[in-house]
This record gives sequence, C-alpha cells and structure tokens, in this order.
Amino acid sequence: MAQQALPGFRDFYPEQLVERAYIMRVWRDIVQRYAFVEYDGPPLEPLDLYTKKSGDEIITQLYNFVDKGDREVALRPEMTPTFARMVGARANALRKPTRWFSTPQLFRYERQQKGRLREHFQLNVDIVGEADVTADAELLACAIDIMRAFGLTAEDVVARVSDRRILQAYLHSLNVPESTIPAVYAVIDKLQRQPRQISSEKLQALTLPQPAIDAILTLDTTTFHTVQTTLRESPATQLTADFSRYLGYLNALIPNGAPWIRFDLSIVRGLAYYTGIVFELFDTTGEFRAICGGGRYDNLLANLTGVDLPALGFGMGDVVLAELLRTRGLLTATLSGVDTWLIANDNVPLERVMREAARLRATGKSVEFALRPQTVPKQLKAAKSAGARETITLE
Ligand code: HAM
Repeated sequence: MAQQALPGFRDFYPEQLVERAYIMRVWRDIVQRYAFVEYDGPPLEPLDLYTKKSGDEIITQLYNFVDKGDREVALRPEMTPTFARMVGARANALRKPTRWFSTPQLFRYERQQKGRLREHFQLNVDIVGEADVTADAELLACAIDIMRAFGLTAEDVVARVSDRRILQAYLHSLNVPESTIPAVYAVIDKLQRQPRQISSEKLQALTLPQPAIDAILTLDTTTFHTVQTTLRESPATQLTADFSRYLGYLNALIPNGAPWIRFDLSIVRGLAYYTGIVFELFDTTGEFRAICGGGRYDNLLANLTGVDLPALGFGMGDVVLAELLRTRGLLTATLSGVDTWLIANDNVPLERVMREAARLRATGKSVEFALRPQTVPKQLKAAKSAGARETITLE
C-alpha cells in the first residue's frame, strides 16, 4: 500500500507549492516595505527554551524527544523564543529598533481541526527596542497591509485589538480577585468558541460578583469608550491615553483603516508572555480560526536572556490564510510553464538539441525537450502539456 504523509502534515505537489510560494512572495514584499530584514534559526531547539516561557498549551503540543547525545530537544512550535534568544545574544551590536522577519515551518501536535495542522509555515515579524505604541501601530499596519496585498478588504478581515493591562485594570474595577485572573483569562480566551452558558457556569464557579460575570460575558462588545469611562479615575488612565494614541497612529499609517480595526477586550492570546497591546486577525464571517496573532512581550528577552529590551511581534500562518483566499477566489497562482520547447525533426541528433538548449538556457530561458527520440506530433503534444510558450523546431 502507498505510504501517506502523517496526519496533519502536507505533501506539497507542484501546484500546491506554487500557492505556498505566492503567499511567501507577498509576505516578503510587504514586510520589506516596512524595512524588516530576514533571519532564520534552527528547526530543532533545546526543550527548555519552550517549557520555560511559552505557556501551558504549547507545551502539551510539543514534538519533543531525547537525541542521541541525551539532550532533551523539541521541534520548534513557534519562533518567538528562538528570536528572543538570537536577539539577546547580540543585543549590544544590533541597530535598534531591530526589525526582523522570518518564515519558519513550525510543528505542534494539535488536535486536528479546520485551519489547524501539525505543521505550518508562519510569517514572524518582530520589533525589539521600542517601548512606545508607535511600534505597536507599525506592526498592526504591516499585518493589515499584507491582507490588502492579497486582495482582501475590511469586509473580509477584521483586526481585533486589546491590551492585557487595560483588561486587567478593567477586571480590577469589576472587583475580580487577583487570584482568579488566570482562570478568568482562560474563560475570556474561549468566549467566542464556547457556548455562553458554559462560560457563565465557569465564571459562577469562580464565585465572582454577578455584575462582573455579566460584564465579562459581554467583553467582546464592550466599547473602548465604555472602558475609558470606567477607568477614568484609576491609575490606568495613562494606559487608555496611550491606547488612544495608538489608534490615532493606526489611522495615520493605514489610509481608510478604521473599518479594519475593532477594540475587543476578549482577545487575550493563549501564549503566556504577552504584556501589553495584543491583537488577532479574523475573517469577518467567523468561519475560520485566527489568521494572525501577536502583541507586546516586554519581559521575554529579560526572562530568557537577561537582556532587558521591550519587544513585540506577530505570527501569521499559511493554513487559515490560504483557506480564506481560496474561498474568496484570491488564490489563483498556477505553474508558470516552460518558455521554449525544442522539437527535433527526424534525424536531428540529440546532441544538437542539447547544444541549442544550453545556448538558450544561458540567456535565462526555461527550456525543455524530449529526452529520447520521438515523432514530431508526440513532441508537440509534450510541449503543449508542459505549457510551453513557444516551440522551436530544429531541422
Ligand atoms: P500563535 O497565535 O500561536 O502565535 O500563532 C500565530 C498564527 O499561526 C495563528 O493565528 C495561526 O494563523 C497560525 N497557526 C498557529 N498554530 C497553527 C496550526 N497548528 N496550524 C495552522 N496554523 C497555525 C505565535 O506563534 C506567536 N509566537 C506569534 C508571535 C510572534 N508573537 C510575537 N511574535
């Protein structure tokens, strides 16, 4: 029986690879306009790079094993720890703010579902060395510009934006005890994917005051204005003022950007290291999982490398993006075909065809010919099926 790829792993036949290459090309093109430069790291890393800081969910999804030198290792499930390690090691020498991007293949032993595989390619775009919201605005503007470059509009995709510190201040204002906050975050993270009743029961079980439960259950529709007003007299006013400035910068960076952006405190992000503004991009119909997610992680470099630098970034996977583009008729990349097919008339020796192929290839053309003597009609048929743009017959 023919062997198959493992569950959650993809074979890329040429017609699929051409789609992947197209996605990568658009990613590169746009991030380079934002002056990000490319880096890469190893696909296999020490296990403790992830167990220390990524958060519980990703740890349960690791592909890890003991190598032949008795090292505990893992295939990279995300790029951010590698990025932090690499930047930390050269922190003094790097120009700041540092703007780097990468397109690694990542591995997570996920429960298989729509939009989630066990490997995916993920564009990572990160900035190190700028604590102000100017950098947060640059980052989200870049993610939205990528959507636009694929032909998507604000009718297709929305960026849901939040700030973990504002959420925390808001929960405090609702008298949610500090000790329950991690459990409350876990409920908030699933608000959109879980029936309200279940979220409500989980919050009741934490014995939160009823007004707090009601407010949490409607977090996804709570406006920035409401939150700003609630926090008016609290020390968090500086945070909401910064967030207002962030929204203003986004407006300047993204022409007609307002419809792309929605304030949504229910976005908390699963990964443990985020500290400030966080965001996720979703299709507006709610049909797919997140296309992209990221935010600020100001303590990760200090925790992992001892170098205390503010940082922020996002990851955008190829799986959900391709699904969305396909349903919108925007994934139309096809194999380009050869430029020239050389046809050998009867009795033309193969060496002559080869010399002509070499001459044309030296000029940059893509050239193919029959690798064994064939009748002219057969060669014409082969040229057609290869999508050749021209044929040249050698007499
Ligand atoms: P993440 O939210 O885990 O963030 O992943 C980012 C994106 O990668 C998701 O929105 C989704 O499109 C895609 N993705 C994740 N897991 C899978 C999967 N199993 N199958 C298909 N696609 C997937 C991070 O990984 C952060 N490290 C991003 C980041 C970079 N934050 C700061 N810098």
